[in-house]
Amino acid sequence: MNLLSIVLAILVAILSSTFLINPNTLLTTFLPPNIVTKFIPYNIDRGHRHRKRPDHRKKVSICDDFPKDFAPPDTNTTSYFCVDRNGCCNFTSVQSAVDAVPNLSLKRNIVLINSGIYYEKVTVPKTKPNITFQGQGYTSTAIAWNDTAKSANGTFYSGSVQVFASNFMAKNISFMNVAPIPSPGDVGAQAVAIRISGDQSAFFGCGFFGAQDTLHDDRGRHYFKDCYIQGSIDFIFGNARSFYENCQLISMANPVAPGSKAINGAVTAHGRASKDENSGFAFVNCTIGGTGRIWLGRAWRPFSRVVFLFASMTDIIAPEGWNDFNDPTRDQTVFYGEYNCTGAGSDMTMRAPYVQRLNDTQASLFLNTSFIDGDQWLQSYNN
Ligand SMILES: *[C@@H]1O[C@H](CO)[C@@H](O)[C@H](O)[C@H]1NC(C)=O
Ligand SMILES: *[C@@H]1O[C@H](CO)[C@@H](O)[C@H](O)[C@H]1NC(C)=O
Ligand SMILES: *[C@@H]1O[C@H](CO)[C@@H](O)[C@H](O)[C@H]1NC(C)=O
Ligand SMILES: *[C@@H]1O[C@H](CO)[C@@H](O)[C@H](O)[C@H]1NC(C)=O
Ligand SMILES: *[C@@H]1O[C@H](CO)[C@@H](O)[C@H](O)[C@H]1NC(C)=O
Ligand SMILES: *[C@@H]1O[C@H](CO)[C@@H](O)[C@H](O)[C@H]1NC(C)=O
Ligand SMILES: *[C@@H]1O[C@H](CO)[C@@H](O)[C@H](O)[C@H]1NC(C)=O
Ligand SMILES: *[C@@H]1O[C@H](CO)[C@@H](O)[C@H](O)[C@H]1NC(C)=O
Ligand SMILES: *[C@@H]1O[C@H](CO)[C@@H](O)[C@H](O)[C@H]1NC(C)=O
Ligand SMILES: *[C@@H]1O[C@H](CO)[C@@H](O)[C@H](O)[C@H]1NC(C)=O
Ligand SMILES: *[C@@H]1O[C@H](CO)[C@@H](O)[C@H](O)[C@H]1NC(C)=O
Repeated sequence: MNLLSIVLAILVAILSSTFLINPNTLLTTFLPPNIVTKFIPYNIDRGHRHRKRPDHRKKVSICDDFPKDFAPPDTNTTSYFCVDRNGCCNFTSVQSAVDAVPNLSLKRNIVLINSGIYYEKVTVPKTKPNITFQGQGYTSTAIAWNDTAKSANGTFYSGSVQVFASNFMAKNISFMNVAPIPSPGDVGAQAVAIRISGDQSAFFGCGFFGAQDTLHDDRGRHYFKDCYIQGSIDFIFGNARSFYENCQLISMANPVAPGSKAINGAVTAHGRASKDENSGFAFVNCTIGGTGRIWLGRAWRPFSRVVFLFASMTDIIAPEGWNDFNDPTRDQTVFYGEYNCTGAGSDMTMRAPYVQRLNDTQASLFLNTSFIDGDQWLQSYNN
């Protein structure tokens, strides 16, 4: 047990014994110290009488500071749904705002989410395309829940947020699963922060926090830019075709003893099952760091396809780099490549024999958003 899991265990124990949960305490503890959070305290005292001296500023309502123009008026092409957990605008939960979005809308529906932690499980159903979650920054706005594979009847349903709709976008917000960090040997402790199952999804400046199976990049074409992604085992997994640009990939696997050859995590577990599938994960200009000793990927399915281009990796990457899921027949069918990477973990001299040092021609297929047909859909997302 590391310090974090002890602290978490204590907090969970405290939480389950009290009705007034202050999620901020839990979540700011869950966040790594290098992430400076701006989560404002949850107003759990609302409704209680205080016998404190009166405030000189004579604050009448908690909403005095709420900006009047937080949600602009709707236009012909865009509708706004305002969420504030203190009740200062139309919705107090993200799910209630999603519920208010019309089915099969052709407009862009922007769910504006004020700073704070929204402790709820959120589903965006298939009937609601074109939704944007707009937060105030990934260190100040978050949606968090704590389902696990065991509590949700399977890893695939454990996501704190589950997006089944197409054309989903998120900006400057975090997705967290705060279930206890699994100890070695735990069964059913996988805990997804978000599952993305719709086509044409994009994430700008978002945070993804969890341990095992943080980001279920399930299916469809997806784009991630300037995101922070934390986890331990298989923390980006699924069978999507995704382009990750300028992201920070942070392992929170337990530190391993010096000299130990133990491996205790993997950045990716891509699930391409046949050569006819056009899925894969391309990482360009990302950094990989954190703790533990991990693989860049392991072959969840035989045709797993993952490449790292211009990545900077620390020595947490095991010298062999990748793993075939202990199935040598997969060595013939996986596509694992590296190109122009830097840092102590990027040394390819000890790499598994099936790992490819990509040449310029091979790399060009993965170097820009044409890998996810970005020209067909991504342009309109950039503002
Ligand atoms: C989630 O948190 C609640 C409140 O602390 C607790 O009762 C519940 O058991 C937790 N669920 C899981 C799967 O850890
Ligand atoms: C927007 O809708 C209004 C009223 O329905 C209409 O008068 C206006 O021309 C529309 N504007 C555009 C740019 O379509
Ligand atoms: C939000 O509240 C404003 C003012 O009460 C109202 O005009 C608007 O229609 C509401 N929006 C939604 C999505 O409910
Ligand atoms: C959207 O569609 C679902 C299922 O088709 C239906 O249950 C729901 O009431 C609809 N919601 C709205 C806001 O129209
Ligand atoms: C809304 O979704 C439909 C179908 O997914 C898509 O064709 C349309 O371009 C989207 N509209 C906007 C404004 O994003
Ligand atoms: C759990 O999953 C199994 C198989 O996937 C299914 O048969 C069962 O109905 C599910 N139970 C619940 C409560 O969702
Ligand atoms: C997101 O946050 C960054 C940095 O805090 C800011 O520069 C950017 O304008 C924000 N973008 C959106 C769409 O909110
Ligand atoms: C690469 O990443 C660094 C740091 O995240 C960023 O400053 C730089 O602009 C990126 N370069 C490109 C070509 O995207
Ligand atoms: C990337 O590496 C290849 C060899 O693998 C080399 O030919 C190429 O010049 C490098 N490109 C850059 C931009 O560093
Ligand atoms: C790059 O690698 C591919 C696959 O091994 C090979 O077919 C191709 O000839 C190489 N291209 C160059 C320019 O070396
Ligand atoms: C992306 O790369 C491909 C292959 O190198 C190239 O043909 C295409 O023009 C590039 N697209 C953009 C938008 O840079």
